[in-house]
Amino acid sequence: MDKLKVMTVFGTRPEAIKMAPLVKELEDRPEFESYCCVTAQHRQMLDTVLNIFRIRPQFDLDIMEKSQTLSTITSKCLLGLEEVFRQVRPDLVLVHGDTSTTFAGALAAFYQQIAVGHVEAGLRTWDKYSPFPEEMNRSMVGRLADLHFCPTSANRRNLEAEGISKGLFVTGNTVIDALQTTVVDWFTFDEEVLNCLDYEKKKVILVTCHRRENYGRPMEDIMSALAYIARVHPEAELVYPVHLSPVVQECAHRHLDGIENVHLIAPLDVEEMHNLMARSYLVMTDSGGLQEEAPALGKPVLVLRKETERPEAVEAGTVKLAGVDYGRIVELADRLLDDPAAYQKMAHAVNPYGDGNACGRIADGILYHFGRTDRPPEAFQS
Ligand code: UD1
Ligand code: UDP
Repeated sequence: MDKLKVMTVFGTRPEAIKMAPLVKELEDRPEFESYCCVTAQHRQMLDTVLNIFRIRPQFDLDIMEKSQTLSTITSKCLLGLEEVFRQVRPDLVLVHGDTSTTFAGALAAFYQQIAVGHVEAGLRTWDKYSPFPEEMNRSMVGRLADLHFCPTSANRRNLEAEGISKGLFVTGNTVIDALQTTVVDWFTFDEEVLNCLDYEKKKVILVTCHRRENYGRPMEDIMSALAYIARVHPEAELVYPVHLSPVVQECAHRHLDGIENVHLIAPLDVEEMHNLMARSYLVMTDSGGLQEEAPALGKPVLVLRKETERPEAVEAGTVKLAGVDYGRIVELADRLLDDPAAYQKMAHAVNPYGDGNACGRIADGILYHFGRTDRPPEAFQS
């Protein structure tokens, strides 16, 4: 029987981290002929992930521009992918999550009537503008996709509520597969400041913040709150690898430069990031991926957003929605720094997002969909 031609398409850092173990799985299985196309919506932040996981894409659209707009990303991806799909004619295109690359990848495949598989399907806030534009991207991909790989059963129920009833698989999130390969006890950082921090005596707070819906007032308030927290808690060390977006760079440096216990550093490669998280006291973030990784490592998370499409760890008690209000962020951080009981209540490892076997389930789900096996994969149970 012919091999199934499966093409993975991704472009940003988080997609690359979460697709990398799946690319490996497809390459290792004899049933698949695996192709990888990157749009390079992110350039440097994508390339570090490709290097760490030793992925050599056959196609690279190299679309990134400084201060790119949603329209330029989407149109450049659509045009580039049209050519690539015409050349390869894959049986299935796999996209991930909710970025502009994801939406354009699914739409370009649909235009050529190529089946679409959506990895990390079914996350919803039900708010069109938050996260922006991700909520609409993933909803539209849900309509375009033939296969939906949902991390959790709640994600599956979200799709069912939208009338999607076929091609659904609950697999766990591939980020947990990735996390199992990166965290080690003996890690030495390339970023020297991270080797010098005293992780026993100091309370290291890992910070990230980059979302488009936080641009403007919310991001100003978040950065002011971080500055205040650092100044009143000398026992804390804030480590913030700043996203390369010019908007984020400007705001972070304006508020946080010159504060002794704040370390603004370049984006970390994924191994450094996961190992720093494993050694941190607390995570404060608006990132989606960090909300999934930190609970698995037993680290409390304050989410710097008004809502989350990842309620599972909130329900498990390790993640709190802090919002974007200065007073509330400061209050919650103060409590976790000052009250050991409040901290301990949140600091336990939970794995609602995966068991490390998501990629195997996705590969099995593809084989089942194409009639290459009679048995669907067993659903991930959190
Ligand atoms: C994108 C995704 C967002 C995801 C985030 C992960 C969309 C609309 N947004 O947002 O869902 O959470 O990636 O980080 O798809 N830049 C560089 N080098 C890089 C990466 C970015 O210089 O390696 C700069 C460029 O100036 C670029 C800007 O950052 O124009 C913004 O990048 P973009 O992909 O448009 O938006 P993100 O905020 O990264
Ligand atoms: N990450 C990283 N280095 C950094 C910041 C984040 O490797 O400096 C990783 C993080 O561990 C997670 C992913 O990137 O796996 C999350 O990406 P990001 O926050 O950019 O996007 P989101 O998840 O919000 O879409």
